Amino acid sequence: MTDETRMHSSDERARSGAARDDDFERALVLDTVRVTELAAIAASRVVGKGLEDLVDQAGTDAMRRVLNELDIDGEIVIGEGERDEAPMLYIGERLGRRGPGAWPVDIAVDPVEGTGIAARMVNNAVTVIALAEKGGLFQAPDTYMEKLIVPPPAVDVVDLRWPVAANLAGLAQAMDRKVEDLTIVILDRPRHEQLLREVRAAGSRVKLIGDGDVIAALSAAIQGTNVHAVMGTGGAPEGVLAAAAMKCLGGAIQGRFAPRNDAERERLEAMGADSERVYHTADLAPGDHLVFSATGITDGELLRGVKFFRGGARTHTVTMGYHSRVVRFSDAIHLLDDGARVTIQL
Ligand code: FBP
Repeated sequence: MTDETRMHSSDERARSGAARDDDFERALVLDTVRVTELAAIAASRVVGKGLEDLVDQAGTDAMRRVLNELDIDGEIVIGEGERDEAPMLYIGERLGRRGPGAWPVDIAVDPVEGTGIAARMVNNAVTVIALAEKGGLFQAPDTYMEKLIVPPPAVDVVDLRWPVAANLAGLAQAMDRKVEDLTIVILDRPRHEQLLREVRAAGSRVKLIGDGDVIAALSAAIQGTNVHAVMGTGGAPEGVLAAAAMKCLGGAIQGRFAPRNDAERERLEAMGADSERVYHTADLAPGDHLVFSATGITDGELLRGVKFFRGGARTHTVTMGYHSRVVRFSDAIHLLDDGARVTIQL
């Protein structure tokens, strides 16, 4: 089969419309879970050693290996960096079996979201992926983004351009509680001094995190976590991953690119992005067919970390499909050693 014929069969599949909507997610959801589960296991083997590069490499290697086994014709749009700065999972890298009938997909990954916390074995490190049809994920450059992430009831009552106190008042009203009863997650960075002052002056509590605003976004959109919003500036690629999750969960992200220097500003413009504009969930994750998966590496509020036992490992994952409207939490036991006698514990 020639490349051209392959492309045609992929194109036909991409074009075949609504009837295939469910097929896309059904075909990819279990595969996607496997990608994050195996990346989390690989990264977990080397957490706690204080070596960020080692954890990142382990997660990246595993993710790439599993992605290459899938029946997809995939391209990384959010990855470990540009081709010249990242040996693997770089923006533009093609992945998957790419044979006849392979699903044409764009892929956003963060093999270890929170490399620093994983290296120190601190809570909330996860491995994350989002898959969408071609063009379904915004190709954000590796710069910063100012973010406001809120749960479903507050989607229409906040605006990134408004004062912090106004957004907190809207959020509190939408969530039927006092401003004082809100918990806002903010990355613990010097750049957030002013934001911290404003949130605290309005009366809300701040939960400072060392890393990991993607999983914080999920926590804000899922009730029962005692997290009600995420505010502040973090990675723009993480903003796209959060947008894919928000789309599936019904929450919202508003983001404005915050380039750190002229080079980043130029790169942003070259990629067709606008640093003045507020991007919304559907701008950052425009896809109709989206699959998102995150597996815990270390323990966190939402996901348990990987636990090893003789002959295997246990993982905890959240997976969602936008079109299928299913959010799954899966607790999986992986029997890793051939012939190992394993007693499975509830
Ligand atoms: P990594 O996945 O690269 O470890 O990023 C972790 C993270 O904390 C993100 O969650 C966040 O968006 C970003 O870094 C913030 O960047 P910085 O550490 O430069 O403030």
